[in-house]
Amino acid sequence: MSATSCNVRVLRQKAVASDIRRLTVALPKEGPRPHAGQFYMLRCWSAAETPVLSRPISVHDVDEREGTLTFLYQIKGEGTQKLAHLAWGQTLTLTGPCGNGFDVAAAAAAGRVAVVGGGIGVAPLLLLCRELAAAGCKPELYAGFRDAPYALEDFLPYCAAISVATDSGAVGYHGLVTGILHPEEFDLVLTCGPNVMMQGVYRLCAEKGVPCLASLERKMACGLGACLGCTCHTKVGPKTVCQDGPVFPAQEVFDLG
Ligand code: FES
Repeated sequence: MSATSCNVRVLRQKAVASDIRRLTVALPKEGPRPHAGQFYMLRCWSAAETPVLSRPISVHDVDEREGTLTFLYQIKGEGTQKLAHLAWGQTLTLTGPCGNGFDVAAAAAAGRVAVVGGGIGVAPLLLLCRELAAAGCKPELYAGFRDAPYALEDFLPYCAAISVATDSGAVGYHGLVTGILHPEEFDLVLTCGPNVMMQGVYRLCAEKGVPCLASLERKMACGLGACLGCTCHTKVGPKTVCQDGPVFPAQEVFDLG
């Protein structure tokens, strides 16, 4: 188990939408470097306080030159509300990096890559696009939102193209992101977002015979493969989302029925 715990200092926190925050902390000096698709367990409250559990938050970006680690998260419970109050100079505890993450070298070697995100599911995709671009494979990004998109400007340097769909029609294509994705134009599709969206992406890929990898989200207690609370039943047996995942071949975790 390579995850470690450490305290890090908050460098900045910014609202990028009413319920979305971008939190940047000092990149831990010790321990393994996080890569795309991995996450940390975050905590800025004592063991005596609620919530009992730390919050799993995916890595949004890593800037080695700046020495920063950035998270993009949605405020949707007591833990994330407490994280949202963090300001410059305060500290929080990170445990990680956790999870398998994306195999970027294999993805870059596959050829043309589409990266498909929905809502806060775009969070882990920035580092993914950055790492793919660094490996010589700028992906095309497809991003779906309910209404106004957020955080997409950061993707520009790392993507060959960015296409947006919104449920409201406020920006880009009016409808689901699956309405603008043509998997046959790609050799590999990588996705993160609501399950129903990822299932739709997988369905399109399966119809065209294009491999698809999906990053799942689950409630997590330990984040380290110890409690089995995040176990999901895949077609190749039970797997922990926190340690065996969160990235799985889509055909192992979704049905076409
Ligand atoms: Fe404990 Fe995954 S959260 S095993």
